[in-house]
Amino acid sequence: EWPRGEVAFVTGAASGIGLGISRALVRAGARVALADIDQSRLDAAAEALRDEGGVVATVRLDVSDPGAWEGAADAAEAELGPVTILCSNAGVNGGSSAEKTTYEVWKWVHAINIDAQFLGAATFLPRFREHGGRAHILNTASMAGIIPIPDVAAYASSKFASVGFSRALRADLEGSAIGVSVLCPGTVATRIVESAAVVQEEMLGIEADRGAVEGNLRMLSQGADPDAVGQQVVEAMAAGQFLIVTHKDFLPIVRAVNEEMESAFVDFDGRHGSDPAAAMLVQG
Ligand code: NAI
Repeated sequence: EWPRGEVAFVTGAASGIGLGISRALVRAGARVALADIDQSRLDAAAEALRDEGGVVATVRLDVSDPGAWEGAADAAEAELGPVTILCSNAGVNGGSSAEKTTYEVWKWVHAINIDAQFLGAATFLPRFREHGGRAHILNTASMAGIIPIPDVAAYASSKFASVGFSRALRADLEGSAIGVSVLCPGTVATRIVESAAVVQEEMLGIEADRGAVEGNLRMLSQGADPDAVGQQVVEAMAAGQFLIVTHKDFLPIVRAVNEEMESAFVDFDGRHGSDPAAAMLVQG
């Protein structure tokens, strides 16, 4: 039963949700290439999964480096065989409002959170096609890619882009054997807040508000268990589910966002007549 016997390539696999997804894939009988920028955490993650009987490889990869993807894919496939599951999960939190975000941080966040998801798909789609058979792409977005969340301007932009890109991928791949899912987690107990504080201090030159960092860490520690989220993700991919969410509590905000969008159309006087592209899409 899928994904038994498949080979997965998971980015951001050294920690948090990526490690949880990798662990669930291993438990379901897949072999996993663990890709991450952090070699020492990568080694520790591989050791932990091998102790559980997993067949894994480590690939050091900066997902934001366009020149590094082909080599990383080759290395993974040389060790484990043809990859049929790509989990583009690595991500960073730029951790600031639009006013305080510098262009450097803006570009850095987008390079990792969204450009890398394009690079991953561009690297593996031709390999999936050549290998043939069932394949799957999972992109990790966030609730911040569905509803407005203040004080994370670059992050929110990159996560809305991830949801948008995933929708585009799904539309392009409809009818093929390649499935697409997008994971939109709420709070999950990982290390991501620590990296946000580092960004504020080292890249934005903002003294990280220690009280806020501590508060965020406390909140994050009460989030979902990354291993449980990983298990949910593998079940959802197996079932061909597109949108994966982790917490029901956001539903009222999702409804408000959808209502705002709908009423922009319903309340509009239609002054430009009918749209030829819309006619095509509605029929199709
Ligand atoms: P984490 O910080 O525990 O793990 C992220 C991993 O990505 C780390 O191992 C890090 O070394 C790696 N990484 C960072 N930059 C990289 C790069 N340039 N190249 C390769 N690897 C890189 O964080 P977490 O929470 O597990 O994050 C995973 C994904 O989940 C991210 O996309 C994040 O935005 C998303 N997410 C997390 C939520 C949470 O509450 N923890 C909520 C919603 C989304």
